[in-house]
Amino acid sequence: MAITSFTSPVSASLRRPQGRVVDVPTAVRKVALLGFGTVGSAVAEILCSKTFPQLQLTYIFNRNVARKRQPWVPSDVRWTDNIEDILASDADVVVELMGGLDPAGEWLELALRAGKCVVTANKHLIATRGQELARVAHQYGRRLEYGASVAGGVPVLNAVAAGLAGDPLLRLQGVLNGTCNYILSNMDAKGLSFEEALQQAQALGYAEADPSDDVNGVDAACKLAILAQTSFGLSVAPQQILARSILGITAEDFQQARKRALTIRQVSSAERTKDGLRLSVQPTMVRSDAPLGQVRDNQNVLVTTGQWGGETIFAGRGAGGGPTAVAVVSDLLAVARHHDSGAARAHLDAPDAQVEGDFVRPHYLRAQSAEFAEVMHALECAGIQIEESSGPSRWEKANGSAFVFVGDCTTAALESALKNLGSGSWFCLPICR
Ligand code: HSE
Repeated sequence: MAITSFTSPVSASLRRPQGRVVDVPTAVRKVALLGFGTVGSAVAEILCSKTFPQLQLTYIFNRNVARKRQPWVPSDVRWTDNIEDILASDADVVVELMGGLDPAGEWLELALRAGKCVVTANKHLIATRGQELARVAHQYGRRLEYGASVAGGVPVLNAVAAGLAGDPLLRLQGVLNGTCNYILSNMDAKGLSFEEALQQAQALGYAEADPSDDVNGVDAACKLAILAQTSFGLSVAPQQILARSILGITAEDFQQARKRALTIRQVSSAERTKDGLRLSVQPTMVRSDAPLGQVRDNQNVLVTTGQWGGETIFAGRGAGGGPTAVAVVSDLLAVARHHDSGAARAHLDAPDAQVEGDFVRPHYLRAQSAEFAEVMHALECAGIQIEESSGPSRWEKANGSAFVFVGDCTTAALESALKNLGSGSWFCLPICR
C-alpha cells in the first residue's frame, strides 16, 4: 500500500534512511512489548533504531526477564516479568508477541479495558477470540491490530480489507506457513530430509514453539480463518477447517511431481459456496511455474480471485523476525495515526459461515507395488477415474512403490476407497494445475 501523509495537523518532515519522505505526528506513543523472542527482539530493534520517533519503547515484559536483557536496549526501557507493571503503566499500546491462547487473551482484554490499544501477531488468539476482543476494543474506543498474524511481512490483511474492498472475493489460494514452505521447498530443491529441513526452519526462527502446529496445518488453518473472515465477512473457527499434515511426503513424491513440472506445497484454499465457504489446508501438488510453486524458503503467497478484478497475487517473507516485525511496526504506525478511532478491523458481527471441506481435484497416489491389484480394484469400485498407470507395465517399482494419477475426486473419497488397505501403505496428494 502506498505511504500517504499522516493526518495529524501538527507534523514534522522526516527523511527515512530509504529516502522516502513521510510526515510524522509529533504525538509520541508509548509502547509496551510482551514477549522478547525472535519477533519481539526484532520489533525492539526497529523501535530502538529511532527510525520512527513517534513510537517509544517503554516496557519489555518476558518471563525470567533477567536472561533476556540486551545492552543495545536504552536504559530508560523498563524490563519486567510482572504483567501488572504493564497494565498499570502509561503505555499507550501493548504489543503481544508471546503466542498461545492463555494468558495472552486475558492480558490483552485487560489491556484494552485499561484503555490501551493492542497490536498482536497471535493468529491462534485472533482466529479463536478475535471477534470477542474486537468487541472489547470497540466498547473502549481502542484499536486492535493484527496485520502480522497472517503471512508475516506480506500485508495481505490490509490488501483484502482495503486494497481489494471494491471487489467481492470469490476464492483465495495461498501458502501461509513459512515453516512448511521451508521444509517442502528445501526437500525439493536441496534433497534435504524432512527432519533436516525442519531443524533448519527451527534454527532460523520460523517454526512455532510446538512445530507440530506448523506441520499438521493448525497454524495455517488459524491464518486462513482470519483471512476468510476479513475477505468474506463470515466467521470461521480454525477447528472447522479441514487440515492435513505434510508428514509422510517422501523424495519419491517430489520425483513424481518433478517429472510432470509439478512440486509440492502446503496449500490453504478458501472459496465461496452457495451456502457458505469451502476451506482446507493440505499438502498439494502445484505447477512449479505457478505462484504457489514459485515460493521458496520462508516465503508466503496469496492469490485472490475477485468477481471484477480477477486474480491478484501477494508474495514475500511470511515468517521470521525481520519481516514479521515490519508488519507489527506498520500496525503500530497505524495506531499512532489513529489512536482512538477506527477501533478494531474485525467484522464485529460477522455471521458464522457454513463450512465445507475437501475440494474436488485430480489426485496423485503412491502405494506399495505389492498392493497394485487391490488398489486398482478399490479405485474402480469407488468409480474413481484412473488417468495414468493403467497397467502394471507402467507402474514404477523403485523402492517397491507404485504411482497412479486419478481424475477429479475429493481426498475423502480416496481415503474411503482405500480404507481396507493397510494404514500407512499408501499416500495421496491433490493436484492443483
Ligand atoms: N510458524 C509460523 C510460520 C510463523 O512458519 O509461518 C509465522 O506465522
